[in-house]
Amino acid sequence: MVAVSDLPLFEQFPALKERIPRLEIGEFPTPVNPWERIGRRAGIPDLWVKRDDLTAPRFGGNKVRTLEFALARGIESGRPLLVAAPHGSSWAAACAYYGRSLGADVDLVLFRRPSQSEREPNDSIIRAYGRELRSCRTPIGIPLAFAGAWFRGRRLPPLILPIGGASARTALGYASAALELAEQVRSGEMPRPDLIVVPVGSGGTVAGLLAGVALLGWNTLVIGVRVNHLLVANRWSVQRMARNSLRVILRAGKRRRGLPLPEFELEADYFGGEYGLPTEEGREAARLVQEEEGVKLDLTYTGKAVAALLGRAREGRLPGPTVLYWHTFNSRDLTKLL
Ligand SMILES: Cc1ncc(COP(=O)(O)O)c(C=O)c1O
Repeated sequence: MVAVSDLPLFEQFPALKERIPRLEIGEFPTPVNPWERIGRRAGIPDLWVKRDDLTAPRFGGNKVRTLEFALARGIESGRPLLVAAPHGSSWAAACAYYGRSLGADVDLVLFRRPSQSEREPNDSIIRAYGRELRSCRTPIGIPLAFAGAWFRGRRLPPLILPIGGASARTALGYASAALELAEQVRSGEMPRPDLIVVPVGSGGTVAGLLAGVALLGWNTLVIGVRVNHLLVANRWSVQRMARNSLRVILRAGKRRRGLPLPEFELEADYFGGEYGLPTEEGREAARLVQEEEGVKLDLTYTGKAVAALLGRAREGRLPGPTVLYWHTFNSRDLTKLL
């Protein structure tokens, strides 16, 4: 069940293959496309998008790369997985769907969040594929719900996945994604980016990208657009995760000396004060991208990330002409899974 394949990261660091289990869920590489129309309107000379909405044929988005590592570990351990997330979360939906499809036992604890603008169809997927569902009113109830699951008389205690699946190990998926991008740059699909912009929820995605860009030695600025509270993701937690991920990789390559992380900024001005609360700038960015490029942004993550990018372009704060927006929101039709 647990497979290894030729992720660029595994090709460059074969010893990682032996050490780190991974399930093949995604189809890589995901395309890179120019976004000329938006670029023209926003005054970004060379704007590109990395289409991680297309990471898998049925259910894409950034969490596919995370789950390849998180689920493999769960299946290998033989323990049930326990996931806590807000209602309507893509992470919870992806865990439920892929967990069920790949034979992992995934139990879910869902808590309400104040604004529930985009519940469907993630909630329908969670209901259809989740094994054990527990609900609590606020994140404060999570430990109790976890304890309930723990004491249910299982032989093995559950493996509790971190919020959003973010860990040094699962970040390897995005370290490899950066190497995948480098192959696309080498083959002439796009120029090397001066700037990469990506949304930040739990921080695992951007941490992996930071580790990957460090391996590449690129002089690229990485901007994470924070859409969650500081307690969940902050500069310190992201950089720590990136360093730990890099350490796992370099150890497999028998390298003693570390590598510096690339320049990193965590942009917080587009958060809107509450996780999941749509903002005017986010709505406007989503409308523009839909109109000009035909790509759907969500209002919790990607709308805010693109709004931040457009804001920086307006303020003339781009480090160079070539900008890559890393798109993370699933674009596959989830109703087909119901
Ligand atoms: C669409 C989308 N983009 C970005 C993120 C943030 O990823 P991370 O939690 O790794 O920071 C998420 C997290 O669920 C997401 O659903």
